[in-house]
Amino acid sequence: MRGGFDQLLIEDVRAHTDIVEVISRYVNLRKTGKYYMGLCPFHIEKTPSFAVSPERQVFHCFGCQAGGDVFAFLMKRENVSFPEAVKDLAERAGIRIPDPRESAEESRKRSRREAILRALEWATAYYERVLGSDAGREAREYLERRGVSRELARKFRLGYATESWDALIAAARAEGIAVEDLLAAGLVSPREQGTGYYSRFRNRVMYPVSDHRGRVLGFGGRLLETGGGTGGVQAGSGPAQPAPKYVNSPETDVYVKGRVWYALYLAKDAVRRKNQAIVVEGYMDAIACHGAGIDNVVASCGTALTQEQIQAIVPLGCEVVVSFDSDSAGTAATLRSLELLKGAGCRVRVAQVPEGKDPDEFVRAAGGEKFLQVVDAALPVVDYIFRKAVEEHGAADPVAKGAVVEKIAPFLWSISNEVEQAAYVSRISEELRVSSESVWAVVRKRARTSQEEVVRHKNALGLHTIDGKKSVENLVQDGSTPAVQKAEENLVRMMLAGIPDDRLRQISQECFTGSRFGRLARHALALIAEGGAVDLGLLINRLDDEDLVSAAASLAVSGDAVFDERIFRDCVFFLKKRRLAALTELIARCDAGNSEQRISLMREMQSLLSEVKGSA
Ligand code: UTP
Ligand code: MN
Repeated sequence: MRGGFDQLLIEDVRAHTDIVEVISRYVNLRKTGKYYMGLCPFHIEKTPSFAVSPERQVFHCFGCQAGGDVFAFLMKRENVSFPEAVKDLAERAGIRIPDPRESAEESRKRSRREAILRALEWATAYYERVLGSDAGREAREYLERRGVSRELARKFRLGYATESWDALIAAARAEGIAVEDLLAAGLVSPREQGTGYYSRFRNRVMYPVSDHRGRVLGFGGRLLETGGGTGGVQAGSGPAQPAPKYVNSPETDVYVKGRVWYALYLAKDAVRRKNQAIVVEGYMDAIACHGAGIDNVVASCGTALTQEQIQAIVPLGCEVVVSFDSDSAGTAATLRSLELLKGAGCRVRVAQVPEGKDPDEFVRAAGGEKFLQVVDAALPVVDYIFRKAVEEHGAADPVAKGAVVEKIAPFLWSISNEVEQAAYVSRISEELRVSSESVWAVVRKRARTSQEEVVRHKNALGLHTIDGKKSVENLVQDGSTPAVQKAEENLVRMMLAGIPDDRLRQISQECFTGSRFGRLARHALALIAEGGAVDLGLLINRLDDEDLVSAAASLAVSGDAVFDERIFRDCVFFLKKRRLAALTELIARCDAGNSEQRISLMREMQSLLSEVKGSA
């Protein structure tokens, strides 16, 4: 995650950047003692628990445990990669970035991505030009009919692909864009017979799909509703098939569908300002809303939401109002999307546009004001799902009640606030006239099978190790007891403060579990082995797991550590005893045939035993 740059450059950028100044652009910070405090931009809260340390140049939220250095902040807040965060800050600091030291493979990949982005940018401008030309007259009329003004079309960079199979390719050639790049960008396909390529998009209004900075990554192409033409019929695919309404770009080296929101780059400032994102389904829905002056609207492009997409707007710290077409409101994909949103800690509400219209039709017919009223009246997602479930199953007989509770259980489970959760459980049990215990039982059953629970379980068992290998060893490395974690945390603190060499020799990677601080300790040890001193910046730099970055940052804001002989000895002793217990268990479980492993474990146990005895 943090590769691709010279360490010196990163340190230079860090030295020329003030984290307080950077975060102040997003959060209202007030100086409180050693820290600047404010409302956390990564979760919703009413009292400030977000701390920035000017001295250590890190941030940490006591509420949601988010934390890290200035790069981590930008990555999370702006949803950018590490190199992008470095570039951004370097630019602000006026530091020129030398060619990153990248392998031949990396540099090949990067220039490939750049070529694809160039081709996409070129194609966007090309399709825009065609829309404005004679060939685009019908498309212009079509957009006009749908209420899209010239200005709105320009804002969304709408374009038009003619019916031609090869006009795009010819134009590209004339302007020095390689057809291979068009291919890699998903704009053309190889002909099935003979050689050469043909345009993927024909006779379609082109909607460019951009990343959060407005770089075009792909397209949606909508068939013109004018009849005739071959738009969408696949070349050489036998008898003509009816053209699909939309043809979309395939996934490419730059376009990963579960990662982008349509119109996010146009909406993100407004989303931040209003603390609310309105999520619609279609390209046209987003365009119509923006056209009516409702600018905090993004579109999901008709697919189920992904965790990554949600993270891209959730860090904007907002409420999410989902306004899907009524025919898709009850589908499994929608339910799953809502559940994910709720689970991500958003305030989620569902707006139902009346008369089965989609937001585009509604905005055009009734106006933006009316649509905002619909948004204002949106129901909290739990109430919405409950109402839907009762509509579907009824609530009279026992079977119906059971079905309703099954439907709502995942949502109840995903509520992170216990008070809110309990309030919903009691209200729902009252409305269904069943005991709240029985509702809780269904919710808990859900908990046992849910993915979050699996992850939690794995963490408790320490299954995530520094090198990601999973073995029987990890199973025994139970890092879940608070005492173990406290000992590990203490040791990491001391490593950062500096541990005398002779003491350092008493600890090794094996002492630590798979807990957050255990893993941090291993990273710190590795750093020490590589070059001596560790500081928080260096440590954070080599972490590629957000959870660990926050753990590291939490160290900075919870007081200074010094090396303390007694605490050090106690912690080491404690961890070694734990390791001994683990070894005993391992040896017992060891495959009888594997005498080599057994012997090496026994050896470790022997030496550990004598160490522990020596220090006891
Ligand atoms: P809709 O069918 O609601 O389309 O699909 P729309 O955007 O409202 O289109 P208009 O109003 O008829 O012009 C919602 C979204 O689902 C995706 C598109 O992203 C679309 O915007 N979709 C739909 C496809 O990708 N392919 C399809 O064939 C249909
Ligand atoms: Mn529509």
